[in-house]
Amino acid sequence: MLKPEDNELLCRVGPGTPMGELFRRFWIPAMIPEELPGPDCDPVRLRLLGENLIAFRDTEGRIGILDELCPHRRASLYFGRNEECGIRCVYHGWKFDVDGNCTEMPNERPETDFKHKVRTKTYSAAEWGGYIWVYMGPAERKPPLPEFEWALLPPEHRWQKKWLYNANYMQGFEGEIDTCHTTFLHRTDDYSALSPGLAAASANWQKDGMPTLDVRDTDYGYFYGSQRDLGDQGYNWRVTQWVLPSNSIIPHPKYPISSRAYIPIDDENTFVFGTSYNPEAPMTQEERDYLETGLGAAPRTIPGSYVPITNKSNEYGLDRAVQRQGSATGMPGINNQDRAIVESMGPIVDRENEHLGTSDVAIIAARRKLIQMAKDLAAGKEPDMPLDPALFGVRAIDVTTRIPDLDTVVETYSEKLRLPAA
Ligand code: FES
Ligand SMILES: [Fe+2]
Repeated sequence: MLKPEDNELLCRVGPGTPMGELFRRFWIPAMIPEELPGPDCDPVRLRLLGENLIAFRDTEGRIGILDELCPHRRASLYFGRNEECGIRCVYHGWKFDVDGNCTEMPNERPETDFKHKVRTKTYSAAEWGGYIWVYMGPAERKPPLPEFEWALLPPEHRWQKKWLYNANYMQGFEGEIDTCHTTFLHRTDDYSALSPGLAAASANWQKDGMPTLDVRDTDYGYFYGSQRDLGDQGYNWRVTQWVLPSNSIIPHPKYPISSRAYIPIDDENTFVFGTSYNPEAPMTQEERDYLETGLGAAPRTIPGSYVPITNKSNEYGLDRAVQRQGSATGMPGINNQDRAIVESMGPIVDRENEHLGTSDVAIIAARRKLIQMAKDLAAGKEPDMPLDPALFGVRAIDVTTRIPDLDTVVETYSEKLRLPAA
């Protein structure tokens, strides 16, 4: 359980909140490049960490992330004209460039023009690793872009998708660091629709539903090893990575690896940026086709939006007849099952009434660390982690071996795990 005040601290991410400030020390993925297809494209509304913004690409192709509301009389720049290196508010014609400077004030005569005194709020943006990233923190703390393994690979090695969760970021993220639920929530009597990696993982999950978890704190977050007893075959070890503030790297016995970022739109809504990647080879067409089905760890979305096709309005595709026959949920798709359960808790789960067990130790550790870091920052202690881009480059592994302890697993597979030097 968590005291209500700690739950508030964990979940609230708007401007001025301790957790919101912590998120504002990181570059965060915010859009996919297709949302801003080219110079002078249509402006797009962007809500991030509880702030309403406008994104556009100017005539030179530079990305602008501006306060949605015009600093004159607060009209929405969403209705603005994107023209000649700036966005023009259509109410009285004030124009702003990607750096937030007011470059024209056509409703004032030259002697009363005060455009040089007007700036609008703007944030830095960068294209990196297949996403558009935004940095919303203080300029003097702006870090280098995070060197996730997939961000450094050629685009052919990865498949990426953005989708909506109607719940707080941490609620969704706690599913990522909860290996135990896979045995139960994702159980079915037919794994043939899954990718080879997920099907192989699922077979292990069914053999032992009481994994032992061992968490190791690190500079970048933590990793934990979950040990499942497979009898004669030895142990299945999954080493899952939590990379600050809300990134998971989830292993499977076969590539691709899944990396997901849970990015708060606001306190009650989240965009997930999911990257499936193969560090050793380009993704095959077959792998891409499978990921597009929505049966795996990313859903299909309604064309032209990021809303999953199966969602609360259609009970996530629940079919009670299917549920009776051997599927735990009667719902199609791994992420769909995850999302149904996460959203079923309400937008911000009441953690005061939980009863946590040993299978929840990784969740407890992540909450503690995030709350402590947010408190530290509020007390003036800045996090160092975002400033070291190499710390983001760790990998997760899923191996079956006779090794009985996590330390030896880590030592044996240290190269594959890409852990930073101690
Ligand atoms: S409100 Fe934008 S120019 Fe007046
Ligand atoms: Fe899951």
